[in-house]
Amino acid sequence: MSQANSNPKVWATRWTFILAATGSAVGLGNIWKFPYMTGVNGGGAFVITYLICIALVGIPIMMAETALGRHGRHNPIQTMFELAKENGASKNWGIIGIVGVLSGFLILSFYSVIAGWSLSYMVDGVSGVFPSLQGDAAGEHFSALIASPGKLILYHTIIMGFSAFIIARGIHEGLEKSVRFLMPALFVLLMLLLGYSAFTTGYFMEGIKFLFVPDFSKITSEAILAGMGHAFFTLSLSMGAIMAYGAYMPKDAKIGSTIVTVAFFDTFIALVAGMALFPIVFANGMEPASGPGLMFISLPAAFGQMAGGSIFGTLFFALVAIAALSSAISLVEPAVAWIIERFPVNRAMATIIVCALVWLLGLASVFSFNIWSEIKPFGKTIFDWLDYVTANILLPLGGMAIAIFAGWVMKKEIMEKELSLSHGGFTLWRWLIRIISPLAVFIVFLNSIS
Ligand code: PHE
Ligand code: NA
Repeated sequence: MSQANSNPKVWATRWTFILAATGSAVGLGNIWKFPYMTGVNGGGAFVITYLICIALVGIPIMMAETALGRHGRHNPIQTMFELAKENGASKNWGIIGIVGVLSGFLILSFYSVIAGWSLSYMVDGVSGVFPSLQGDAAGEHFSALIASPGKLILYHTIIMGFSAFIIARGIHEGLEKSVRFLMPALFVLLMLLLGYSAFTTGYFMEGIKFLFVPDFSKITSEAILAGMGHAFFTLSLSMGAIMAYGAYMPKDAKIGSTIVTVAFFDTFIALVAGMALFPIVFANGMEPASGPGLMFISLPAAFGQMAGGSIFGTLFFALVAIAALSSAISLVEPAVAWIIERFPVNRAMATIIVCALVWLLGLASVFSFNIWSEIKPFGKTIFDWLDYVTANILLPLGGMAIAIFAGWVMKKEIMEKELSLSHGGFTLWRWLIRIISPLAVFIVFLNSIS
């Protein structure tokens, strides 16, 4: 293993981790959720909160999860149980793995529905309707889509079907291709969109100001909680996804620098998406706080005005759906891996069980946009609740538990060896993981409760 540089197989494995982790991280969270959350939460102050959380909480926990996964070498649930035992701690730490897999399950149920919206817009692109989606028509088109349970179920079913197919076959092949070729393609299209926003909308500076000039009067404790929750969501933390993929890493690959790279890339994509989207939003007189429909209302209008926009638009929504698919896979994999190791069923059967259950739960999100839209316990629809409970409660709490486990329970030598940071880097990581991250989560929680 020590001749990693001359051994292509080891490099291939390290590369596989980077591809898999990037595939998991980059998804709807960057392109759909980050811009709309920024819009709802008032812009720059939210973005700063989110960036601080990525740096102080997200990256240290992402490193910890990868290291735990590589050290445990099992599905996340079993890994947590075994690491607890190895380090002489209570079995109860295993609950982190269980809650994580459960959160992944809940997230996927609505994630798949939103990925379905993207498929629907891909079809719209093919049928050439973007040029007609100007002004109010864009919003009406989106409203018509989410008002149709039949359409939403159809696309949700296609996304879950594809996910099941890829997972049942084993994730490497499909995943590697999608990330190695299609992610760069998505990136190029995003840059193109950014160019369009910068040179033709005439509202580029408004967009930049909205994103980067903080108005701290807009920052509520709810917005801070949302920014922190989104840091977990966008880096795929707390639900075993990154832990499960950590097992792919060869022993001598450097976790520290690898994770910084993945997190940087994820953040960069989100910021580019925001910089591309908001000028279009302002140029078309749309409301930044429109909520989950923001990208689906604003982008078709832009594609409709662009030369070759139907082709670019079709491609763009197709690539967003694929990016969502590679994230969806990482949400199912931990549960499937756990079922296979724990019960006498094969991979295909485990996949069918998990995906069928997720599909069924997804119907609740589908209906919460139409026939159940009036069912709003405490002011939120079922979709809103699933999103809120996972991103704002389960992920941060799970992350805090992982931080405490990695910082206080795991033996220092093990973490030091796994992370292979510089001496100063490790000291910094340890401060962050033992004190700063858990404290940050705790304070943000306390604040939003009171
Ligand atoms: N990180 C993904 C995104 O930003 C979503 C995700 C969350 C994927 C949790 C896996 C696990 O779109
Ligand atoms: Na992300």
